[in-house]
Amino acid sequence: MASVNLSIIYYSATGTVYTLARAAAEAAEKAGATVRVRKVAETAPPEAIAANPAWGPHLEATADVELVGHDDLDWADAVLVGTPTRFGNPAAQLKAFLDSTGPLWFHGKLANKVYSAFTSSNTAHGGQESTILALSNVFYHWGGIIVPPGYTDPIQFKSGNPYGTSHVAGEGPPSEVALKAADHQARRVVETAAALKAGRAA
Ligand SMILES: Cc1cc2nc3c(=O)[nH]c(=O)nc-3n(C[C@H](O)[C@H](O)[C@H](O)COP(=O)(O)O)c2cc1C
Repeated sequence: MASVNLSIIYYSATGTVYTLARAAAEAAEKAGATVRVRKVAETAPPEAIAANPAWGPHLEATADVELVGHDDLDWADAVLVGTPTRFGNPAAQLKAFLDSTGPLWFHGKLANKVYSAFTSSNTAHGGQESTILALSNVFYHWGGIIVPPGYTDPIQFKSGNPYGTSHVAGEGPPSEVALKAADHQARRVVETAAALKAGRAA
């Protein structure tokens, strides 16, 4: 299999999306990819962070995770993007990074890569699909090759979201099903990117 560079770019306030990102990274590494896990910068004011007892501790616990830069997109053959649902949309912190990529986009550096997204929300019908679809709008503009999990593995019939791995954070930390769905999504992304890379090289 052609070796694949995978960037997992995420935002997480209280750790749910981070846990999914780590599960995806582990699966992608097992599938042979070289993986970078990168967080986007926190931009929320201290009062907002202090208002949620889980927010500050998660910030501290992930202080050693490298901040994302444009090179993490340029370097990648495939990109997995994770965000909590915020009013049915991606988090502003992640959007701010995505909105900084104009120069890469202008030079065609974001096109022809594999993209896929995952999310969490507090409630079951709280906007997981709309969040992932909103990220897909960005991938369309970038000329990306969007690879959703669909129902391509039995775990998808349990997780129930063909758009991308998602978890209901209101029910607790990511369940075994969500972690397995993240595993499947990451492997599918790596395998698709590897096939594309091999095909282009041939
Ligand atoms: C400003 C704001 C908006 C939110 N909007 C939604 C929403 O539309 N639907 C929902 O189910 N949960 C919503 N939530 C809850 C988050 O999605 C939830 O806390 C998040 O998925 C947890 O992920 P994290 O632990 O990675 O931060 C919102 C939270 C905040 C702070």
